[in-house]
Amino acid sequence: MRMPSRGLSKAEITRALQEARKDDFPFREGKLFAYTFEAGEEIDAIGKLAFTEFLTENGLDPTTFPSLRKFENDIVDIARRHLGGDDAVVGSFTSGGTESILLAVKTARDHARKTRPEITSPSMLVPETAHAAFHKAASYLGVRLVATRVSPETYRADVADMREKIDASTIMVVASACSYAHGVVDPVTEIAGLAKERGLLCHVDGCMGGFLLPYFRRLGEPIPDFDFRVPGVTSMSMDLHKYGLCPKGASVVLYRDESLRRHQVFVCADWTGYTMFNPTIQSSKSGGPLAAAWAVMHFLGEEGYTKVASDLLAARKKLVRGVGEIPGLVMMGEPEMSLIAFTSDEVSVFVLADRLKARGFAVQAQLGYGPSKANIHMTVNPGNTKVIDAFLVVLAEETAKLRAEDKGALPGPEVVALANMLKETLANDPDGLAAAAVIGQADTRPGNMADTSQLLDLLGPKEREKLLLAFVGRLFTPSPE
Ligand SMILES: Cc1ncc(COP(=O)(O)O)c(C=O)c1O
Repeated sequence: MRMPSRGLSKAEITRALQEARKDDFPFREGKLFAYTFEAGEEIDAIGKLAFTEFLTENGLDPTTFPSLRKFENDIVDIARRHLGGDDAVVGSFTSGGTESILLAVKTARDHARKTRPEITSPSMLVPETAHAAFHKAASYLGVRLVATRVSPETYRADVADMREKIDASTIMVVASACSYAHGVVDPVTEIAGLAKERGLLCHVDGCMGGFLLPYFRRLGEPIPDFDFRVPGVTSMSMDLHKYGLCPKGASVVLYRDESLRRHQVFVCADWTGYTMFNPTIQSSKSGGPLAAAWAVMHFLGEEGYTKVASDLLAARKKLVRGVGEIPGLVMMGEPEMSLIAFTSDEVSVFVLADRLKARGFAVQAQLGYGPSKANIHMTVNPGNTKVIDAFLVVLAEETAKLRAEDKGALPGPEVVALANMLKETLANDPDGLAAAAVIGQADTRPGNMADTSQLLDLLGPKEREKLLLAFVGRLFTPSPE
């Protein structure tokens, strides 16, 4: 597409924007169990109001815009209290969970450079259920990721395996509260205790659970300790754009004290321009996400969030009970959070996900990995709470139909043979040309993913990654006129 020679009118732009979203999933109906945290029109409007008010202000210089500094300090204070931190705990507002995690890993790396200079190739212990952002951090920052096992029954981190894998290069251990895939909380007390005993840092990833779990606990749920109250926890991440219900671009990363946080900050006076001080990765940044987060948190307050948490908890319980009652489906682990995963030996979860999509519900099919078989994941957001009954009816119907079909549409020997052929092809594919050819032929339209997913599920992670790389190349191709 070329830049229009004459600018469009506001009406034309509005029409074009609406036209652009015509194929987007209609998430406001509450039937999308991932990606969005829909909390209703009123909260949406507050976020939009504050976002647009501060859209143009630049977080690059908080001395020119003290408003932004105030919003950030307020939010970090609320966050540290929420997570059991004392007055020594400090932190930063970031653009999301991945940035918070990248920064926590960078901080650990630079802290080790200072305090343990003998380590030339630092490593961190990361349970195999921890978010892929730790792999991204490892790859960006030159910190080796040592994967540790989880229990095949509970999907919680295996602390004995972590203990065994600590070596002279270990600088940090990681725990999730909760994990994305299964919504369970790792044994943080034991993991942080181990870190303390061995003089290591311990990051708790509360991107998904950090905001909501304290409310679940106040509602009487037996939530294990996972925050700064636990001795040995040295840093935490918590997303506001997930269960804080704030518009996207909102997370916090917190540190036990300033002596740790200083390793996060980048300063530069070594050039001709303005002296630069960047606590986070972005330099120039819109004040929109920060102001919007401040506004939504103040609009809802403890009372509003408690009500949301109560609805989410009831929805999760109904969902877990309902899934457990459907013949052929099996819950995976016992989630503390409002994220669940279920699997099946009798029907293909990939075909099931496509069939649910055809009936208007979007769930996430997760490929098998390690002890976690292929499954269906659902992140329950406030907008979903009103459709749980309807969803369970459709889930039961579609599962029953699939069970009545030949082998529940599970992949047969021909798919396994195809996967083996593909493995061979990919093994001799250094330039990714074969991967691009495979992806070029695959049907990857939403709702038609079962064939591709069945095949991917039979491949190893490195083979999947080759195909993903080709897929991204195909997705992001400049649109011709
Ligand atoms: C546990 C956990 N950590 C980190 C992240 C990364 O967050 P983001 O997508 O905001 O970068 C997620 C995202 O779902 C998550 O579930």
